[in-house]
Amino acid sequence: MKKITVAIDGYSSSGKSTMARRLAKEVGYLYVDSGAMYRAVTLYAIRAGLTREGHVDTSGLIGVLPEIKISFALMPDGSQHTLLNSEDVESEIRGMEVSALVSPVAAIPEVRRHLVKVQQSYGVDKGIVMDGRDIGTTVFPDAEMKVFVEASPEVRANRRVLELEEKGQKVNYDEVYANICERDRIDSTREESPLRKAEDALVLDNDNLSREQQMEWLLERFREITHAK
Ligand code: CDP
Repeated sequence: MKKITVAIDGYSSSGKSTMARRLAKEVGYLYVDSGAMYRAVTLYAIRAGLTREGHVDTSGLIGVLPEIKISFALMPDGSQHTLLNSEDVESEIRGMEVSALVSPVAAIPEVRRHLVKVQQSYGVDKGIVMDGRDIGTTVFPDAEMKVFVEASPEVRANRRVLELEEKGQKVNYDEVYANICERDRIDSTREESPLRKAEDALVLDNDNLSREQQMEWLLERFREITHAK
């Protein structure tokens, strides 16, 4: 069967990564979490002392971009971990310190161009599911299947709190809610490839859907598009 490209975009903590990962596994495609790449660059900037009180040293970060190598490793339990210059940083990039700075980092045009090139290189042979903010608009504008995921900020904050608690991180609902709203704002208003729905994207509002229901919806759309009935 001919392979396609699947682009899944949406607001922060909308459940896109879980959907994208499960779809890729189900249909045997490569899964790439583009947000993890922006998070890894942010962690590098924090460790290199290029951030201070919520501000990013833009020219300093642009200067070190060639030193940042991001890759993914498949773990024995089937999960995918993000590697920053070969170090497993999966847990660290999900914490609030990185979440608080990732949107300003992702708004830097040079950072975006650098990562978009790498993301496009993963997709040359199709057979890929990538999730993020600009996948259907900028990274893969010709993707055969585009999905835009929406959910209310309250539902998203609740989901993110549960997810972080499951990973053993101590979090505060108000802090998570404020971070989600602030990232939505920065991501939607930045100049370089802002978060927006591609005109030809299917919209999924998953406020009232269980994980199983949304997977069913996604797989049905995938089968329609690939005629894999
Ligand atoms: O998991 P969550 O929805 O919180 O976010 P993420 O997918 O890990 O992305 C973290 C941040 O990276 C976003 O808030 C955006 O600022 C940025 N990002 C982006 O600008 N473009 C992408 N394609 C993916 C993420």
